[in-house]
Amino acid sequence: MSEAISVLITGAGRGLGLATARALLRARPELHVVAAVRAGPEDLAARLATGAGAGRVHGLRCDLASLGSVRAAGETLAGMLDAGRLPPLGGIIGNAAVQTTTATQRTADGFESTFGVNVLGHYLLIRLLLDRLAPRARIVLVGSGTHFGDCRHNWGLAPGPRAAPVEVLARPWTTPDADTAGAGRAAYATSKLATVHLAHALDRRTPGTTEVFCFDPGLMPGTGLARQGTAVERAAWHSVMHLTRLLPQATGPRAAARRLAAAAVGASPGPSGSYLERGRPRPSSPASYDPAREEELWETAARLVGCPVPPTGPPVSEGGPCGTP
Ligand SMILES: NC(=O)c1ccc[n+]([C@@H]2O[C@H](COP(=O)([O-])OP(=O)(O)OC[C@H]3O[C@@H](n4cnc5c(N)ncnc54)[C@H](OP(=O)(O)O)[C@@H]3O)[C@@H](O)[C@H]2O)c1
Repeated sequence: MSEAISVLITGAGRGLGLATARALLRARPELHVVAAVRAGPEDLAARLATGAGAGRVHGLRCDLASLGSVRAAGETLAGMLDAGRLPPLGGIIGNAAVQTTTATQRTADGFESTFGVNVLGHYLLIRLLLDRLAPRARIVLVGSGTHFGDCRHNWGLAPGPRAAPVEVLARPWTTPDADTAGAGRAAYATSKLATVHLAHALDRRTPGTTEVFCFDPGLMPGTGLARQGTAVERAAWHSVMHLTRLLPQATGPRAAARRLAAAAVGASPGPSGSYLERGRPRPSSPASYDPAREEELWETAARLVGCPVPPTGPPVSEGGPCGTP
């Protein structure tokens, strides 16, 4: 029998995250799921803990749009692990994300919302828990084909990522179009390119100790991701867009969840650092292989969220605790 481990998943309350939490519980009977949500962790835990999940689900409040909430979540979870109230932390799935209708919305700490939630919130959560990861743990960050910025991968639904210093991308945009839906989608693609960069930077810092992957589920119409769109966009997302599931690039949340759960706790899906397109290692965009940019992201994110930047290379845990920025 496999050893008992805990797996933390963010955005576990709906869409891909909820389906993956369920898939994880089904995949391994000894596995515990720490289901992180921004509100109502007890309700979610109760919903997930029915039947086979009983006694193996722990709700955790974690609003990725607030560094204070992320810090509290990281400390709560670290405390539970240290006290032996959970099996060792064998995986972190950074699934939560937000897509907004402008690039001017702010997190509680004043960061541009998509970058703040999708990148900085996860960055801090992972930094807070790196020391607590079990040997050969896996970190899987959920990416998106929008990071390619081409029609083949994003079907013309989103503009490509914006090129600017990380420090600029992390702040509400001040470009002339910043208040438009197009800028909101570009900010989302930008955050997903940064997610691939983050996976590469993290992989470089955890050689032989932790496997890191960026998982692209494919297009999944019908989830909550389009909920800030116009009435027409939302109607299309929940109706005609489902027809895209007939195409190989699209999928449903449950099929994607099985692949994501397998990437997190199944047989190793490929070399650490890989981009997993619907579960299989594939090259990510040319722009995503850029060590200088990956290091810029790592160091800027550390400064913005209040973590030390180790002078060189691995392991990150030598950098000391993350405080307030
Ligand atoms: N749907 C697609 O076509 C598609 C394609 C490629 C990649 N993806 C990626 O797949 C992942 C899951 O997305 P989805 O399609 O399942 O969308 P979804 O249904 O909207 O789920 C997103 C999850 O993120 C959570 N979240 C948003 N803001 C948060 C915050 N501030 N703090 C904590 N959690 C927060 C949401 O929580 P609430 O319920 O509280 O809002 C929700 O549980 C995302 O990383 C997304 O980028 C999706």
